[in-house]
Amino acid sequence: MINAGQLVLKRWEPNWAGELTAAITESLPELKPWLPWATDAYDFAESMAYIERSVDSWAKGDEFNYAIFTTIGELIGSIGLMTRPGPGALEIGYWLRTPFAGRGHMTAAVRVLARVALTLPGIERVIIRYDAENVASGKVAEKAGFTETQRITLDPETPIGSGTEIIRELRS
Ligand SMILES: CC(C)(COP(=O)(O)OP(=O)(O)OC[C@H]1O[C@@H](n2cnc3c(N)ncnc32)[C@H](O)[C@@H]1OP(=O)(O)O)[C@@H](O)C(=O)NCCC(=O)NCCS
Repeated sequence: MINAGQLVLKRWEPNWAGELTAAITESLPELKPWLPWATDAYDFAESMAYIERSVDSWAKGDEFNYAIFTTIGELIGSIGLMTRPGPGALEIGYWLRTPFAGRGHMTAAVRVLARVALTLPGIERVIIRYDAENVASGKVAEKAGFTETQRITLDPETPIGSGTEIIRELRS
């Protein structure tokens, strides 16, 4: 569990699958343009599968996903660390439940999780990847202190997004 001021980050637990489904369903208009798994077909079974995968990934050490709660217990989003950039680096991914957006919550969560990540043995860099047109995600990364290092042109067949991805990073 990570205390982030007005927020608490907790490892995902299966009994939150119902609330996760509700959070995603009501946020679909904001999530769909950027997250390939966010579709109108999203349901409880997908939430349960995500949480079970998250529990497995923690055990394997390849992904560390947290539910984000307010201090009064509202589930307001998700944030995680992924090992996919390879040795020395972790990648942060996130989404926020729409009614709670625009209050600085994700910037606060990213700041804290990046700080935690950079204290882990061998981790020198934390990165965030986002679509060039995803203004909100870019602002979160920028406000949390991440600097742009790369712009990547994606395969034109990519089903969502503008086709250009920006990578920002924070170093220890
Ligand atoms: C990206 C996201 C997590 C931001 O969460 P949030 O808690 O609303 O972010 P913050 O309140 O910390 O806002 C950070 C900045 O982004 C700005 N912002 C938020 N939403 C915005 C929008 N739709 N358009 C433009 N700017 C936006 C905020 O105004 C703030 O900047 P400011 O302080 O200069 O005003 C949320 O919009 C989201 O879940 N988006 C869909 C999923 C997604 O894109 N995930 C990331 C994939 S890489």
